[in-house]
Amino acid sequence: MTAQELLKKAHEAKKNAYAPYSKFRVGAALLSKSGRVYVGANVENAAYSVSCCAERVALFGAVISGERDFEMIAITSDSGNLTYPCGACRQALAEFSPRMEVVVSNEALEYRSKRLDKLLPDAFSGKDMEKEIGH
Ligand code: THU
Repeated sequence: MTAQELLKKAHEAKKNAYAPYSKFRVGAALLSKSGRVYVGANVENAAYSVSCCAERVALFGAVISGERDFEMIAITSDSGNLTYPCGACRQALAEFSPRMEVVVSNEALEYRSKRLDKLLPDAFSGKDMEKEIGH
């Protein structure tokens, strides 16, 4: 699947965003190594901090379907600017596939792509909780 094809799925998913507070809709589509696509959109709440980003909605749906390895995530929004994943979503995605491609786009689906480990260098991971000294 190409970045453009995945972006189209993110664009479709954006239509189901629930964003009455920010009025800023985001759509995400996550491609697993097994070839399946999991979509997400942001879901907001009157208690603002309870809201969830599109990327994590897609990720958690994939994880509870048994997926653990991912190739690529595509993100789009209502903005004329490229929409990069927030820090929390970068961390959540890095738990599973720190080297996945992150395709960021604007409303017109103009895009660029970067590897997740470039967007989140020196990420905290399960390894950092080991007692033995590692480098
Ligand atoms: N949002 C996302 O869903 N993904 C991002 O990458 C950036 C921000 C959402 C959260 C909130 O519902 C709205 O966009 C405004 O921050």
